[in-house]
Amino acid sequence: RARVAIVISGEGSNMAALLYASRLPGSATEIVLVASNNPDAPGLALAESEGVPTWSHSHKGLTREAFDEALHDALAEAKPDAVALAGYMRLLTPAFVSHWQGRLLNIHPSLLPNYRGLDTHRRVLDAGDNHGGCTVHLVTDEVDAGEILGQMPVAIRPGDTVDTLAARVRHAEHQLYPATLAAYVSRHHDAGWIEQQVDALAAALPEVS
Ligand code: GAR
Repeated sequence: RARVAIVISGEGSNMAALLYASRLPGSATEIVLVASNNPDAPGLALAESEGVPTWSHSHKGLTREAFDEALHDALAEAKPDAVALAGYMRLLTPAFVSHWQGRLLNIHPSLLPNYRGLDTHRRVLDAGDNHGGCTVHLVTDEVDAGEILGQMPVAIRPGDTVDTLAARVRHAEHQLYPATLAAYVSRHHDAGWIEQQVDALAAALPEVS
C-alpha cells in the first residue's frame, strides 16, 4: 500500500476521511503521519487517538523557510509515497514544493479553476452561481493551479449561507479526496511496477554489438 502523510491546520475532517478510508478492505493507502503547523489542531488529537504518528510545530516566530524545512524533515522521515494537504492553510515555499512535486496533493473548496484562494463559498454565493464544489489537484508553485485530479460539484440551495454550503462541500470532499488519492497512488504504483519490469527485461537482454 502507498504510504501517505497528511498535513493539516485545523479540524481535520478530510484527514479523518482519508484515515478511515485507508482502513477499508483492499485500500490502496496507509496513513503513516499526520503533521500540523498548529499543535492545537483538533485533527491532531483525533489522529493520536487513532494511533497514527503525529508531528506538530507552531510556525509562529519562524520564517516560512525555517518552518517548511522542519515540516520537510518530519515528512521525509516518514518516507511517504504521497503527501496530502488537507485543510493546510499556509502557502508553501518553492523549495518545499519542488522537493515533493508530483507527490503533493491538495483539496480546495471550489470547482477550480474558479475561485482560487480563500473565502470560496462567500464568493460563489455572491456571484449567484448554481453550483459550488471541490477539487483535488497536484500542488505547484502557483497557488491552486496544479493539474486537476478530481472534482465534485455541489448544488447551491435557496437560502444557503457560507456555513450551510461549506458543510455540504465538506461532505463531498470526504468522498472525493480518498477516492482521488487512491486512484492517483495506484496509477503511480502501477507505473513504477511497469518501469521496473522494463528495466529488468532490458537488463536481461543480450547486448547487441
Ligand atoms: C476544507 O473545506 C478544505 O477544502 C479547505 O479547508 C477545509 C478544511 O477542513 N481548504 C482550503 O481552503 C485550502 N486553501 P478540514 O480541516 O475539516 O478537513
